[in-house]
Amino acid sequence: MTEYERKVFTIENMSKSAKAIHKQVFLKKKMPKGDQIKLTEKEYKVLKEWLLELGVE
Ligand code: HEM
Repeated sequence: MTEYERKVFTIENMSKSAKAIHKQVFLKKKMPKGDQIKLTEKEYKVLKEWLLELGVE
């Protein structure tokens, strides 16, 4: 994917971004971006479980 392409996340393609999601949400803590949108503890937990299922940690 180049810098200017846009992608729609679907059930079929989202697991391809698992590593990038892990990096942004759990390592760099940059996502979700800004102060307005926060994930609940439950949402973090579900996201983490999904990543663990895919072997991303
Ligand atoms: C659970 C929520 C979110 C997840 C999992 C997520 C995930 C990601 C990931 C993985 C990237 C990097 C893409 C790549 O490496 O190819 C990214 C970039 C980006 N996301 Fe999010 N994101 C979330 C919420 C948000 C929200 C709420 C906003 C805006 C309000 C946002 C705006 C952006 C922008 C502008 C970028 C480009 C890079 C940057 O400016 O830092 N994201 N996101």
